[in-house]
Order: sequence, then C-alpha cells, then structure tokens
Amino acid sequence: MTKVLITGAAEVLRPPEDGLPYLRHDRAGELRLEGGDLMIDGDRIGAFSGDVDLRIDATGCAVLPGFVDPHTHLPFAGWRADEYEMKVTGVPYEEIARSGGGIASSARSFSATDDEAILAQATGLAAEMLAAGTTTFEGKTGYGLSVDAERRAVRLGRALGGRVAQTTAVTGLFAHAVPEGFTADAWMDEVERLADDTDVDALDIYVESVAFANEHLERLGAIAAARGLPLRAHVEQFGANRSVPVALAAGARSVDHLARLHPEDLEPLAQSETAAVLLPGAEFLGAEETAPARGLADAGAICVLGTDLNPGTSPVSSIPAIVGLAVRRYGWSVREALLACTLNAAYVLGMASDVGSLEEGKRADVILLDTPAAHLPYRFARNPVCAVLVGGRPVWVRPDSAWRLGGAVA
Ligand code: NIG
Ligand code: FE
Repeated sequence: MTKVLITGAAEVLRPPEDGLPYLRHDRAGELRLEGGDLMIDGDRIGAFSGDVDLRIDATGCAVLPGFVDPHTHLPFAGWRADEYEMKVTGVPYEEIARSGGGIASSARSFSATDDEAILAQATGLAAEMLAAGTTTFEGKTGYGLSVDAERRAVRLGRALGGRVAQTTAVTGLFAHAVPEGFTADAWMDEVERLADDTDVDALDIYVESVAFANEHLERLGAIAAARGLPLRAHVEQFGANRSVPVALAAGARSVDHLARLHPEDLEPLAQSETAAVLLPGAEFLGAEETAPARGLADAGAICVLGTDLNPGTSPVSSIPAIVGLAVRRYGWSVREALLACTLNAAYVLGMASDVGSLEEGKRADVILLDTPAAHLPYRFARNPVCAVLVGGRPVWVRPDSAWRLGGAVA
C-alpha cells in the first residue's frame, strides 16, 4: 500500500501551524476541524500525484491523528479487581498498599508469571487500545521491585514494542515503591545503577507517603540530567507534597496526576515547558480529587491526557473513555481534550516531530471516527473509532466500516 486518499471527511483535525513541538492549552481553540481530504504517501502524510492505491470514504467521519497515550504501566501481570471492591466500599489506597496490596501485590504477580504470559496479556491490551485509536503508547517498569526484576521489566517492555502495531516508549519507573529490605535512600543507589545499565527512554518516580519523597525526586532529576534522559514524576496524587516546584527545578518533561496540585504551583507549572499529564481515569475510579485542569488550560499549560492503564488505580485502556471523563470533569472543550491526547502527548514522549498531528511529513498514523469529533465525549464511553492506519497501512477496521475501504480490511 503506498498512496492512500482519505476523502470527503466531515472534519480533519489540523494544528494551527506546522512544526509546533506542543501547543499551549490557551491556544487549543485554534485547532482546525474542517471538512476535506487527507493524502498519504507511503508511511507519511503528504500529497502525491498519480494513481491512488487505496481510497477511504470518510463521509460523516472525523479524521484525527492516532491517539498518543503517554502514561501506561504496561506490561503488568494480572489484575486487582478485589482491591477495587475494597476501595469502593471504603478502604483507602494507602491502607491497601500498607497491608501488602497495591504495587507489592502486582510485583508478586509479575515475578510469578513467565515472560510469554506477561507479553500475551500486554499484547491483548495493546490490541484493545489500537481498536480505540491509540497508535503510540508509553509503558513503564515499576512492578519489579528488585534490581533483576526491574531489568526484566525493561526487557519485556522492549519486547512488547516489537510485537504490537503501535510505536512504543519504555520509561524506567524504578522508584515506584521501596522494595523490602531497602530504605528509600539505599534503593535510590540501585536506581542510579539501573539508569546506567538499562535501555530506557525516560525515568520516572512515584512521590507519595507510601513511596518516595521530594528529596528522591531531586536526586532522580540529577540522575536523569547526567544521562540525558527526560525526567517524569507521579506527583500530588493522594497527598499534597509540593513536589511540582522540585520537578520544575529539575527540568522535568512532565508531572503526572496533579489531583492535589497546590494553587501556588499552578502558574509556574503553566509557564514552564513541563507538561501537566492528567489522568482522569485514576481520579474517577479512585474517587481522588480532581486536578485543576480548567485553570491549567486557561493559564496556558501544556496539558496532556493519559489512561494511566495499570491493574491498581486505573484499569482503563481507552482514550475515548478518558476524553469523555476529561471533557465532563475538567470542563474542557473537545479541542482541548483532543490536543491533550495527540500533539501534547507526543511532546511528552519526545515524538512530536513524528506523530501527534496531521501535517505533511509526519508518520501517517491516522484514525477515523464514525461521527464528528464532538460525539467522542458526548456519547460517553462509546468507541467511535472505525478505522486505524499506522504508517499509512490500515491495521484495524471495524467490520461494519469495511465498505469505507472498498472491502480492503486489515
Ligand atoms: O499511576 N501511583 C502510582 N502508580 C500507579 C498505580 C500503581 C498501582 O496501584 O499499581 C498510578 O496510579
Ligand atoms: Fe501511573
């Protein structure tokens, strides 16, 4: 398949200008959603002359860049549905964690499950994500809780990337929980060694009463800077720890969660090039506070959405569901939500020059919704994605939409 013409779309989402590394959220209204065609030449978006190899009828459709999910915890082993029931009936997350549940429970499953079974679960989830429009995703380590198991998690994260249709990134969340037998300080020495001898795209840390403290975030910032790796951080999820100023001083690529963001930290975050990654699935399912997303958007922060797909706080794989939650709970427009799961999410992964928007020369990761974009949050929790192209090739087509491709299915 070389030359693809997507024709007659009701809406094609385009950035206000080409070449943007991100778009601050006070400019989200400038995103264009106009009717038209989209041309794909080989694996890139771009005009071509001559014969069309594949014509896709996009009548009534919104054509969007594939969703970028910049925050998942793939791969992991098993689930924790029993904890969810405890949580909804009143047991706090920190208490579940302290009694051997939470991250430690997933770490036990991780070590008890062989590589093939872990990869089978993760590839199944990646297929689910593809059918919901996710063409790029990040995964993290963090369920190893020992040096060897964290190494294994990196290796499995990379192996997952080789098996799925999506482009993937691997983040070393080596500082996720303090492993038994270690103090947080002593474990940070191991984290430093892991950063040296594993192949990761970024480093991450979980700052929380049950995990690490701001001083460890500061130290991870130095570790990341010395190795030229982007720093990311889980901050202000349950406790208010004032971690954002620490992350900003360390030049973090992103701060993630932010349900308890201190009001005084909002403006400095919004002025910075550190992205605010918001995870409304975890907020909703964990009955957490709601991140001040409306204020962040108005202040011009680089706002981003992710699923936080993990077996504990957010067993959610669907960006359409996340967009539905974000629009309702954050008071965001459709354009604000779309910006947060496309271009700005690609920025977090350092991939914005290649994916995240429909512009000439970028990878032809393109999705079709069978409705205008406004239906995505409005018809809440419905998946409107009816076709997915990765690198210009149709990789998933909903059976009732095969006619749009003239019967050419993936
Ligand atoms: O992003 N908060 C820390 N890490 C995950 C949860 C991990 C788990 O509960 O397994 C999160 O929500
Ligand atoms: Fe997370």
